[in-house]
Amino acid sequence: MSTTTQWPSSTPVLSISEPTDYKFKFVGEGAANYVFEVLVPPSHELSSLFESHLLRVPKAGTKAHSYVELHEHWQTVVSPLFEPQDLVDQRLIQLNEGEELAARLNAVLEDEEHARRADFKGGRVAVAEYGMLVEDMRQKRPDDLAFEFKPKWLSQSPSAPPTATRCRNCAREPIKIAKLLKHNPKFTSTTTITTITTIPSSPSPTSSSSSLSSIDPPTSPSSSSNNPAASFLCPFNFLTCPHSPTALQNVLTHFATALQPPISPATCSPSQYARLTHWFQTNTLLPRLRDAQVAHDRIGPLGTDLSPDPHNGDGDGDANQEGGGGEEGKQPNGTGKGKGKEEDLPLAMTLRDCACFVRIPADETLPLEAKLADLDKKNRTAKLKYWRATEQMLTDGGYYEGRGAGVGGVEVDCQLDVDCQLDNI
Ligand SMILES: Nc1ncnc2c1ncn2[C@@H]1O[C@H](COP(=O)(O)OP(=O)(O)OP(=O)(O)O)[C@@H](O)[C@H]1O
Ligand SMILES: [Mg+2]
Ligand SMILES: [Zn+2]
Repeated sequence: MSTTTQWPSSTPVLSISEPTDYKFKFVGEGAANYVFEVLVPPSHELSSLFESHLLRVPKAGTKAHSYVELHEHWQTVVSPLFEPQDLVDQRLIQLNEGEELAARLNAVLEDEEHARRADFKGGRVAVAEYGMLVEDMRQKRPDDLAFEFKPKWLSQSPSAPPTATRCRNCAREPIKIAKLLKHNPKFTSTTTITTITTIPSSPSPTSSSSSLSSIDPPTSPSSSSNNPAASFLCPFNFLTCPHSPTALQNVLTHFATALQPPISPATCSPSQYARLTHWFQTNTLLPRLRDAQVAHDRIGPLGTDLSPDPHNGDGDGDANQEGGGGEEGKQPNGTGKGKGKEEDLPLAMTLRDCACFVRIPADETLPLEAKLADLDKKNRTAKLKYWRATEQMLTDGGYYEGRGAGVGGVEVDCQLDVDCQLDNI
């Protein structure tokens, strides 16, 4: 534990009982995990690892799989679906003195309590044997543009009714928004329903005007601050950007209105904005994600049997390998993945719940990076009933046809009609 190994071939170890001055900074949290920055002296053997990676640790009291299971599944099932540059790097780190470490991290959380999401307040770090090191996707320099968004369901749910006029996301999201509005009539776009969050929250340097000739600058961000629907985008827009100026406009307007702080020609450099726009028109990552979502769920939650998954050994540590490998994400059919195999649903749900991190350096000579993270194996046992109940509720309640009760005030501009065209792209 003394010399300067940069990338340990074995699992690195975090041991806070060492005579090292560890400092932890809270970066973010979701429903199941916390993310911290670890600061150590330059002489520490893991200093370069902690410079490039953040520490992810589990929340106490969730039904998520252990990090060992999550990582094995990521390595054997998820990674083969993508190119290495498409994924936020992750690796396990052994946590010695787990109890003491959790106490240290919890003290940091307590200091941040005032800034945490209302529904997350009070949550604490679990005592665990392993954490995860995840590639830090925040700004490398203060003028980098860095943000994250959830691409969500990029294709219609296979068990949606044939009468559906909305995609799964546009059927479901208005319910969440309506609920939020009911409990918090003074909604602002900084609340948690925003699909996209910029990281970190310090504003980017401003630039004077848009450099884009063919695209109108998005409307003023202020118009959305009390309009929850403005923070809601049909995800199919992400896929039609290359062919549809309207879809591109929808995405850019969404970025300019739903993000905090917003991304618009006024909040980043002309070059960064042009690169962002170009990325939406040309990226292969989101189409690939969509193909993988489609390939692993041909029947939808309602077609999925509630009986225990015979192949997955859910919850007991077996990774679901499904005979995977190679470029399955690009091959929706005939890959031996088993058209409609019920054990595919949890993997599809993982792919529908991941986050996409994008970083656009201010330095034009440096590449734009766009990578997927939060590709955690879902706990089928804990979730399958919920997935099915949600689909049943959307179907029976008329939400797929936009008739659902209680969502009257939420505007939806679903692009479902382009879904079949996408099959031919
Ligand atoms: N690689 C990363 N680089 C920068 N920030 C990150 C990274 N990973 C996570 N974060 C921050 O931490 C937050 C929570 O992380 P994460 O998505 O791992 O939690 P989660 O519990 O799995 O979330 P969810 O409820 O969406 O599943 C993210 O929203 C983001 O702000
Ligand atoms: Mg997650
Ligand atoms: Zn939609």
